[in-house]
Parts: sequence; C-alpha cells; structure tokens
Amino acid sequence: MHLGHINYPPTTLGEAVDKWHHDTLPLDCVMTVSDPATLDGGQFEWFRGTKHEMAAMRDRGETIPRERIVAPAFPGPGYAIALHGDMIVHRGAPLNTLAERISMVNGYVAMDPSVDEQSRSRDLIALDVQRAIADMRGGEVPPEHYE
Ligand SMILES: [Fe+2]
Repeated sequence: MHLGHINYPPTTLGEAVDKWHHDTLPLDCVMTVSDPATLDGGQFEWFRGTKHEMAAMRDRGETIPRERIVAPAFPGPGYAIALHGDMIVHRGAPLNTLAERISMVNGYVAMDPSVDEQSRSRDLIALDVQRAIADMRGGEVPPEHYE
C-alpha cells in the first residue's frame, strides 16, 4: 500500500522547502517533478548519521557539519530516490531563487499485518481513534467522545 503527497516550494526565500525531519513510514520514494537543472537551491538532502545523532546535535544546539550532508544528483525530472524515510533524516533545502520546485513523495507500508511495518502509524491513530473512525464514516463523531 502506498500514500503519496506533493511538496510545493515556500514563497519565502531562505525557508526550507521541507525542514529536517524523518518520516513516519518505513519506505519512501522521492521523485523530482521539476527539472533540478532549472533550480538554484532546493536540493533534496539527507544526513549521513542516525536520527538519534541528529536529535542529540539539535539538543546541544549544534549545526550540522556540511560534510555530513549528502545531496544526491537528480539528472532530470522524473528521477527518484528510495530511502528508509523513518530512519534517514532529510529535507528539501531552501531555494536561493524563487522557482517552481515540485517533488512527489510516495510512502509505502506492508500490507501483511504480521510484518512489523516500522512506522509510527499506530501512534498517529492512537492520537484520536474516535475522530479517525468518524472521519472514515463521513465526519460523525459520537457525542460521548468529547464529554
Ligand atoms: Fe520526508
């Protein structure tokens, strides 16, 4: 099963297209829709280290050493990279010049319920089970839910 979304650029220069983060899903495919050759900045980047290292660096107020940031080359629109999005810290770097920078991301989860999908989906569902069920039923929330 896959879940997809499209990233559009911010309208403010210097603002990351997508801030440093890791995903909730175990496998992502990030595809550039725009031609990277037409963009100044906005590259997809990942941190060469663990998400725990990144969290510790953030807590210490450290900046990420440039040599630990990897920006893979995307030769043109339609090229993609697959990554363990829930383990790899990544971002869309800020644009240096405003432009139409669009990427499409598909995230994949195992359909076999016996497989540990290594995602945080259970945490998200646990936030508000009644609301999630209600959304699936067209928005009707049992009145006792908010009492
Ligand atoms: Fe992501």
